[in-house]
Amino acid sequence: MGTTNIRAFIAVVMIAAGLISSGCQSLQSQPDNSLYLQLGERAGIADVVEDMLYLIVEDERINHQFKGINVARFHRNLTDQLCELSGGPCQYKGREMRELHAAMNITNTQFNALAENLILAMESNQIPTGAQNRLIKQLLPMYSDIRHL
Ligand code: HEM
Repeated sequence: MGTTNIRAFIAVVMIAAGLISSGCQSLQSQPDNSLYLQLGERAGIADVVEDMLYLIVEDERINHQFKGINVARFHRNLTDQLCELSGGPCQYKGREMRELHAAMNITNTQFNALAENLILAMESNQIPTGAQNRLIKQLLPMYSDIRHL
């Protein structure tokens, strides 16, 4: 093979390698962040959690459970958790769910009250109903940890 042929051969190999690797990338499953985007990213989620906190304070069914908590920490950790659960680039760094809620003896009514407040907060932040349902669906598996079943 002459020098020109070798150069041409190398160029073809490089192009082929490029095509194969880009093809592989498109085959790799990309993380689905569509829910995160629908929720308005971390800032949108933070607004929802803030509004949910105001509703909790007014809600006689559950506000006694929240007396004296560190509000800033709750807000930060729940925001990160919902961000992560919805496919966003956050990492939940709070306490373990089961341990954290164990001593609270949370009832079904209280669990539903919190979910209701979350939905109301999403509603007042114009989150589309489909996205609301998708987020609630992500939270449902936590039911047995929160209720300590
Ligand atoms: C799916 C439902 C729920 C989720 C995803 C959830 C999530 C969380 C998260 C992420 C935190 C903050 C953790 C940390 O700061 O380390 C937290 C704290 C807390 N949760 Fe829940 N929770 C749920 C249901 C409930 C319910 C139903 C109640 C009571 C009615 C409740 C009462 C509390 C309280 C009082 C705290 C603050 C504890 C403290 O800082 O000492 N949670 N929860």
